[in-house]
Amino acid sequence: MVKVLSVASEIYPLVKTGGLADVAGALPLALAAEGVAVTSLVPGYPAVTAALEGGRAVLTLPDLFGGPARLVAGTAAGLDLLVLDAPHLYDRPGNPYVGADGRDWPDNAVRFAALSRAAALVGLGEAEGARPDVVHAHDWQAGLAAAYLAYDGRPRPGTVITVHNLAFQGQYPRTLMEPLGLPERAWSVDGVEYYGHIGYLKAGLQLSDRITTVSPSYAAEIRTAEGGMGLDGLLRARTEVLHGILNGIDDRVWDPATDPLIPATYDARRPARRRLDKAALQERFGLAKDPDAILFGVISRLTWQKGLDILLASAGTLLQAGGQLVVLGTGEPALEQGFAALADAHPDRIGCRIGYDEALAHLIQAGSDALVVPSRFEPCGLTQLCALRYGAVPVVARVGGLADTIVDANEMARAAGAGTGFQFSPVNPDMLSAAILRAAAVHRDREAWQALVKNGMKTDVSWRRPAAHYARLYRDLVAARS
Ligand code: ADP
Ligand code: GLC
Repeated sequence: MVKVLSVASEIYPLVKTGGLADVAGALPLALAAEGVAVTSLVPGYPAVTAALEGGRAVLTLPDLFGGPARLVAGTAAGLDLLVLDAPHLYDRPGNPYVGADGRDWPDNAVRFAALSRAAALVGLGEAEGARPDVVHAHDWQAGLAAAYLAYDGRPRPGTVITVHNLAFQGQYPRTLMEPLGLPERAWSVDGVEYYGHIGYLKAGLQLSDRITTVSPSYAAEIRTAEGGMGLDGLLRARTEVLHGILNGIDDRVWDPATDPLIPATYDARRPARRRLDKAALQERFGLAKDPDAILFGVISRLTWQKGLDILLASAGTLLQAGGQLVVLGTGEPALEQGFAALADAHPDRIGCRIGYDEALAHLIQAGSDALVVPSRFEPCGLTQLCALRYGAVPVVARVGGLADTIVDANEMARAAGAGTGFQFSPVNPDMLSAAILRAAAVHRDREAWQALVKNGMKTDVSWRRPAAHYARLYRDLVAARS
């Protein structure tokens, strides 16, 4: 049994702002079947401490960067947790990263250094009853864990860092070195230093034994100047330890055969029942109840990464093709306003809900004919995987994990009985428009469309394969270090 400490700043179903939480919450369960025992270290946000069952303190820290802290072991939602109970850092309402004013909490540097520090202490065997073979950090918030372990000097476990999004790197002033307990010798290009700052993600990428990211294509993209966001040199130098492992989805949370959040359940043998969900979705958004109009859906953060300005620019084509569109998302005001205005101008064809709504996300997956994901870059992406499982045909930009998970239904692919969606590249309004027109044309051919729906629904998008890859990575790492 390999023992892994997973360290993440969010975890589904307790705290979620994006796909990181989905991964942190689902991968441990899938790894159990691979003989890997995962404990997840998470900050003690109010939602986490409230959900924790059977909690017992396994480490007490009288002063963790300005206040007392404890590590509390317990369970919640079927997960084995170590909760970093540090009220001065985490006992705050709302979002894990930003305050009510929408700005980063001013002490985020300290809050996530503390998470990493706690991870290192557990890795060094200081918490009662836990000595992991591997510390697996996710994203910049856990990036310093590898640094604390590397500079401690005591025997340490193996370290892995997973990049979910290279765009968020966590850069903070050099003056924090001493307050955060980082030794002066860590201040080097081979250590935590990054363009004159402490780079949290950089430190993790530099000092971890293994690096993973969430798709093979993204693993390749981040080694290029174009996709490397300043870290491509480091990543090229560490190519040998960099692996791309696709995400899966939790196929119990996302199962159209049993989903309590959709009006009509269905499966790959009876996909026709989706039309009931489509009608419900049209009604929910006040769209014309037209069973034949191709209905496109979007579930997304509304940010530059997600390319939804490109969809706004292609909306004219979508309407000309006789399509409908529903958008669920929240983010940049200009995009929120853009989709709201579009819905106002075409109320029977376009619907828009600004906000975060899990139940509605399920209805959109079940009721849309196609799901649009026009991302400029996408490390993996989860909504297109849910769409496959729910029979919503993905229309995706050919980047990162989108390129790796959707099989373009070009004519030859369809002749071979293959194809699960539509890809477009380069990522611009003309090419997205062309993909929308391709989808609309196939949609008019009922049989051809049903073949795509079924191909998608039969695709294994679960965590089974990815979990086996992670298990092998951990085992190889443990073997290499012993
Ligand atoms: P990212 O993490 O970059 O936002 P992913 O596709 O990996 O993108 O994961 C996004 C997750 O968040 C998915 O589970 C998706 O269903 C969910 N999601 C995104 N926006 C919303 C929203 N407005 N309402 C409900 N769920 C959302
Ligand atoms: C990030 C990426 C997304 C990925 C998710 C989970 O949020 O933007 O592509 O699916 O992490 O790995």
